Amino acid sequence: MIILRSDEEVGQIRKAGLIVALVLDKLKTHAKPGVETGELDRIALEEILKNKALPAFKGYKGYPANICVSVNEVVVHGIPGKRRLKDGDIVSMDVGVKSGNYFADAAITVGVGAVSDAARKLMKITEESLYRGIENARPGKRLYDISANVQECVEKNGFSVVRSFVGHGIGEKIHEEPEIPNFGKRNSGPRLERGMILAIEPMVNEGSYEVEILDDGWTAVTKDRKLSAHFEHTIAVRDGAAEILTAL
Ligand code: MF3
Ligand code: CO
Repeated sequence: MIILRSDEEVGQIRKAGLIVALVLDKLKTHAKPGVETGELDRIALEEILKNKALPAFKGYKGYPANICVSVNEVVVHGIPGKRRLKDGDIVSMDVGVKSGNYFADAAITVGVGAVSDAARKLMKITEESLYRGIENARPGKRLYDISANVQECVEKNGFSVVRSFVGHGIGEKIHEEPEIPNFGKRNSGPRLERGMILAIEPMVNEGSYEVEILDDGWTAVTKDRKLSAHFEHTIAVRDGAAEILTAL
């Protein structure tokens, strides 16, 4: 069942979303050569607590950190620690918060120092695919119209969409129904309705879409160790265009 949220509830999730956006905006300015990924985690926690929210990922299924920091070949769920960012890396930062009883979740990928044209294109197309997906998040469309838009944008640019992780509904839990794959057939899936809250999150690989999980049980890396990028927004389905809840 996909829950339809009242305007009052959307307001609560918007508040959580604004905090996520503030945290990501802050993290962006700190993702520079020489910074430890664990330092980004500490900065995020400080900013989340300052806004009277809680980090949503900490302890979720045993996840050990406040945010996910995924460098280069890491697709998602990189655990922040002693790794230092270096010039030319790309780094995805994924932040979820709980504010009151509601959650919001978003991710960005940024270049560290000077990055290659190939890396820049991967990030640009991944972000573009997210916005192409969001364009279809409106009444009259069906869920996999979002998926199909993401997939089309990615594949026509020669990249691949990860299959083994998906976007999700969000609200009173970080993961609610439905699952939102980044690939799929147009005009299929549940009909979209005003009040649905969706976290749309394309994970895009430079090479093959295959991923594997490292021995820590979390870190997902590309099987071919080529680059991967990740962008995510929490959005609300409204009467016309979707409202992005995790933007400043
Ligand atoms: N945005 C990711 C997701 O929706 C982050 C979850 S990390 C976890 O799955 F630690 F909470 F699992
Ligand atoms: Co998510």
